[in-house]
Amino acid sequence: MVSALDRLTYAARQTARVAWYAGHYAAGRRLLKPMPKPDFPVGPTPSRAEMTADMRALFTREWQDIEAGLFPTPRTIGAEPGEFLRRSLLYFRDLPSVDARRHGELDDELPPGTQADGLPDYYRQNFHFQSDGWLSEHSAALYDTQVEVLFTGAADVMRRRAMKPIAEWMARRNQRELRGLDVGCGTGRLLAFLHDAWPGVRWTGLDLSPPYLAEARRLIGRTARVKLIEGAAEKLPFEDASLDLVVSSFLFHELPTDVRLAALKEMARVLTPGGLVVIVDSMQKGDQPSWDGLLDLFPHYFHEPYYAEYAAGSLEAWAAAAGLSPAASERAFLSKVAAFTRMT
Ligand SMILES: C[S@@+](CC[C@H](N)C(=O)[O-])C[C@H]1O[C@@H](n2cnc3c(N)ncnc32)[C@H](O)[C@@H]1O
Repeated sequence: MVSALDRLTYAARQTARVAWYAGHYAAGRRLLKPMPKPDFPVGPTPSRAEMTADMRALFTREWQDIEAGLFPTPRTIGAEPGEFLRRSLLYFRDLPSVDARRHGELDDELPPGTQADGLPDYYRQNFHFQSDGWLSEHSAALYDTQVEVLFTGAADVMRRRAMKPIAEWMARRNQRELRGLDVGCGTGRLLAFLHDAWPGVRWTGLDLSPPYLAEARRLIGRTARVKLIEGAAEKLPFEDASLDLVVSSFLFHELPTDVRLAALKEMARVLTPGGLVVIVDSMQKGDQPSWDGLLDLFPHYFHEPYYAEYAAGSLEAWAAAAGLSPAASERAFLSKVAAFTRMT
């Protein structure tokens, strides 16, 4: 049961979070050069008021699910005293380098050396113009702040929408018998929320980046119920039909077409016949037609080599080609949460 106080605490936390990251966004815009002007046609874009109302509606939907008992009120992850301030300083110190890359004043350089050995070429890029791509502790320490500033504090709630279809699917099952996987888990925020909500499930987080996995371990803490392993989405190190739940957040738009399709096929392969796949990623063209212009602008402002093709395509069609049937779908602010089962 949740109380009126729980509701107030939730609302206060989310409001503070949005204000904190929206403040970073506004300060960044004042400090940096204007975004480069697009030299291509841009679709319709929403007003700031429309976006704010949509984000509010998302928090309301999450609260309704908490009230309905689908999952517990989320904790604030990575919130030791001083942590927000430390991350904020790191973010602002790095911002000029990100901006210089955006305006072509700094090479798209990545650190050479052992960290990059054996990694696929498509992976070794400065996604989002972020320093060191996915390849350093510095990048792993900065990533969550960069993403939350981009989404003005709504990144975590978008990730957590994966929990609604999972909760509905979980209702008929004993969590202690289940095995779950987060593909491209990054710094482990979705995994941390999932572990908090269903601590009986044996979770694994898989990612190609050792520094991001180290950050995930720090956020999740030491627990035998969550394993973190290095590996590639397109070659999952699991037996056929060995996992009950396979999730992924904000990975697929970072992958070239062939790797994306291979990764979806791998998810279908490792899933048990009654299992569930849940993917959170960017919305795509046509999901909210009056916002399509945002999808045109995003890869122009942030280095996203595969995003335009992702946004113009259909996750549902790619999933069908990989052997997955749609089970549920929700547009959640700037993202889409799609659940699938294995085709029989
Ligand atoms: C945009 S981040 C998303 C991270 C996290 N899931 C989240 O919600 O923030 C993409 C992550 O996918 C990882 N990644 C990219 N390509 C991958 C691949 N082929 N196999 C496994 N991980 C990959 C990156 O290292 C990075 O941590």
